[in-house]
Amino acid sequence: MIREILTRDNPRLRVKAVRVPKVDDGVRALMDDMVETMLNSEGVGLAATQLGVSLRVIVCKVDNQLYQLANPELMRASGEQIGYEGCLSVPGYIGEVARAEKVVVKALNRHGKEVRIKGEDLLARALQHEIDHLDGILFVDKLTSIDTLKEVEVGSEEEEAAAVAV
Ligand code: CO
Repeated sequence: MIREILTRDNPRLRVKAVRVPKVDDGVRALMDDMVETMLNSEGVGLAATQLGVSLRVIVCKVDNQLYQLANPELMRASGEQIGYEGCLSVPGYIGEVARAEKVVVKALNRHGKEVRIKGEDLLARALQHEIDHLDGILFVDKLTSIDTLKEVEVGSEEEEAAAVAV
């Protein structure tokens, strides 16, 4: 089911999400809705927080690989990448954010099994962006400079090309 994505000034985007005690059918149904909602919006990633659900669950799709993760934790981060980023919860804006170039994330997959995801470039950026959502942080909080925040047409090529719509 496609759900509504909360946007910028909604206070629920600022809530710190709690850990999932167990990956059960309810969590899997949430993951399904998140994937459907993300793909419908042509996003690269989505956090449960963006649907108003304060559970530590994220999904992302990079290089045709789909990730559905509960309780994701950043175990390692190295290097730096600076680039433009967007967010389905901040439609119509992109801005420059510095992120680690490579990360290792520990999480539970949709079967409740512990997995470690090694990501670099776009996947690393998406994972960091989504984990931030779980802590109530938006990319606009982390701009390299406020001057880099640019208004773009929603769904425009500029928005899509420059940014990770996550
Ligand atoms: Co986002």
